[in-house]
Amino acid sequence: MADRTLFIIKPDAVSRGLVGRIISRFEERGFRILRMRMFTFTRDQAEDFYGVHRDRPFFGELVSFITSGPVVAAEIEGRDAVAAVRLMVGATKSNEAAPGSIRGDYGLGLSENVIHASDSAKSHEHESGVAFGRP
Ligand code: CMP
Repeated sequence: MADRTLFIIKPDAVSRGLVGRIISRFEERGFRILRMRMFTFTRDQAEDFYGVHRDRPFFGELVSFITSGPVVAAEIEGRDAVAAVRLMVGATKSNEAAPGSIRGDYGLGLSENVIHASDSAKSHEHESGVAFGRP
């Protein structure tokens, strides 16, 4: 089924100059970019974006990392987008991500894991509201 998802290229990848390469992977795989935006998360936006992790011990670290520099958010459309994009992204811990996945090829750590992708249609809706603004 063609559906939509969202990914965020994180500050580590933007500062390392990996934006073009990462976007190319999705284009080459046949996904269509619907909208894209470069911005820096405010603390409030980051806390909202990652709200499901609010009670986790790493929440503070997560918010300070994602607000540390510009990110690129993209909403894309294609077949089985949520599941397919998460497979392309790879495991959360860069050292456990399969070679060939984005984190497996570029990730340097747990915070520095290059990219975030929505894990469901519901999180896509919430996360794109934060990244692009709610109508
Ligand atoms: P992401 O896919 O953006 O979703 C939540 C993020 O939390 C995850 O990628 C990691 O970067 C981060 N994360 C998960 N577990 C930890 C942890 N134990 N310590 C620090 N960051 C973490």
